[in-house]
Amino acid sequence: ADYDVIIPAAGSGKRMGAGMNKLFLEVNKRPLIAYTAEVFLKDPHCRKVILPVQPHDIENMKHVLGNMPNVEKIFFAEGGSERQYSVRNGLELAEKGGVILVHDGARPFISAKIISELANVAAEKGAAIAAVPVKDTIKRAKNHIVTETIERSSLWQVQTPQAFRAPLLKQAHETAERDGFLGTDEASLVERIGHIVHIVMGSYDNIKITTPEDLYFAEAIFKKLAGKK
Ligand code: CTP
Ligand code: MG
Repeated sequence: ADYDVIIPAAGSGKRMGAGMNKLFLEVNKRPLIAYTAEVFLKDPHCRKVILPVQPHDIENMKHVLGNMPNVEKIFFAEGGSERQYSVRNGLELAEKGGVILVHDGARPFISAKIISELANVAAEKGAAIAAVPVKDTIKRAKNHIVTETIERSSLWQVQTPQAFRAPLLKQAHETAERDGFLGTDEASLVERIGHIVHIVMGSYDNIKITTPEDLYFAEAIFKKLAGKK
């Protein structure tokens, strides 16, 4: 299915501690945001690439993305103080019908195959997210005392992209805003208005670059994927 993608890119990268937006940090001498944007710019099913960006980053973003293929598909929106607000600002530039994907700027290793599966499932069923089975044992604890071991076979580690029919995503955002609800992903906003969310198998390569050691993993994943081309 054809879709618009919103790529929130307006964070400040506090946990990375680089003193700037981490999306400008480089893997194999190329900024992270260039990898992320390129996958969508090259996808013929992608109509618009909407980038919420902080005003102080706009110039650098334009510089970094300026000579990418199909650059005319890029639209900049204003970044918000929270990720959810950045996505909301991006929504205003998206088509009113069809499918909308939301994908973190900080996940540069997303594959075209997962994108296409998400867009198709969302077109058919309304909402689909990428996720992978949890590998670690996860426990709940209070004051460093374990209170519960959570049955691992039912746990999924959620990623982006997350894909939705446009009117559903808009309704979910409007309801969250009205209720003062702040979620860490779009699906949580859709779940709370009672709509089913389908899971599509993501990839363990599709990491979010969050803390400094993630850059080492990113170099390794880049090498592996480059070797496959
Ligand atoms: N993001 C955004 N607007 C915000 C906060 C985050 O568009 N107000 C974007 C980031 O640029 C990133 C994605 O949302 O691509 C996921 O957020 P995260 O990994 O938390 O990035 P940062 O918020 O930049 O990092 P940190 O939380 O460590 O400050
Ligand atoms: Mg953040």
